[in-house]
Amino acid sequence: MVFQRISSEAETLPYDDDQEGLSGQIVFKFSHVVAENTPKGQAADKFAELVYEKSDGAIQIVVFPNGSLYSDIEEINALKDGQVQMIAPSTSKLTRLSEKWGVLDLPYAFTSYAAITEGIHGPLGDELLKSLEADGLKGLAHWPSGFKQLTSNKGPIEKPEDLAGQTFRIMQNDIIQSQFNLLGATAKQESFNFTYNLIEAGEVDGEENTISNIYSKKFYTVQDHMTITNHGYLGYAVMMDQDVWNQQTDQTQRILLEAMNETTAWNDENAQKLESEQLQLIKEKSAIRIHELSEKDKLEWEEKLAPVYAEYADAIGAGLLQELAALQK
Ligand code: LMR
Repeated sequence: MVFQRISSEAETLPYDDDQEGLSGQIVFKFSHVVAENTPKGQAADKFAELVYEKSDGAIQIVVFPNGSLYSDIEEINALKDGQVQMIAPSTSKLTRLSEKWGVLDLPYAFTSYAAITEGIHGPLGDELLKSLEADGLKGLAHWPSGFKQLTSNKGPIEKPEDLAGQTFRIMQNDIIQSQFNLLGATAKQESFNFTYNLIEAGEVDGEENTISNIYSKKFYTVQDHMTITNHGYLGYAVMMDQDVWNQQTDQTQRILLEAMNETTAWNDENAQKLESEQLQLIKEKSAIRIHELSEKDKLEWEEKLAPVYAEYADAIGAGLLQELAALQK
């Protein structure tokens, strides 16, 4: 093994706090909240491998998965405080930095993987990454994961009105909250790492997430129904603290960027591959009942959720909304 992944806080770390490894390496801690067998988990590991190779072992990315260091909101503060040097939060959690990010949370913002790739790696995605500068952060890349699906113990969920009266765990994001409220559901904004327990304890009926998170965190084992709605985008913005970035030599910056670009291109394919493999595994391993919305059903969901666009138009801004509309044509 050429790079390290630390899975528990208790393990002894082979470096001190000033980014100098015991053998003189530069060490960057990369914290994230999901499992290793997800698009983000695999991309973080791939990035670590590439950086290690390209620097002949002089730069080490130590990946901390599963929220083993920090939960989702904590990790943004930990990055700013210099406790970790890299994070890749879901973009939905960045609306607390700038409401612009909410453009990616709009219902059915993207309707295909091709549209995701075009939008996220085009001017829309670039403008969002650049907006991180205002918070002293260096946006390095977008790593899309895919589309969100709904799971619940009260189902089946076929029509938008089937959500009425149900309670869902959602990410910390008001646009998502508005969508659930619009359909008569209650939404609880809670940390990702509490989701399984909330479902198991019956404190929520369901949640929304990618297939990879539903699979790797075993939500499918505590939920009776899943609906393939593809109703929202879920992806990650990889970032560092701007000052930490500026302190790196040109050579280190070049290696990090090269490895990041290669990882990003790799993730675009890997995320889709993992999603279809893990959907198959969920079907094989469990009795969860899966309902897939037809194209006609989807139009009904889109129509019911459409008022969210007007509600958040000012917060997101006309420019980004126009870019999104161009992608939706
Ligand atoms: C969630 O909080 O549901 C997910 O966005 C977590 C993640 O990073 O994929």
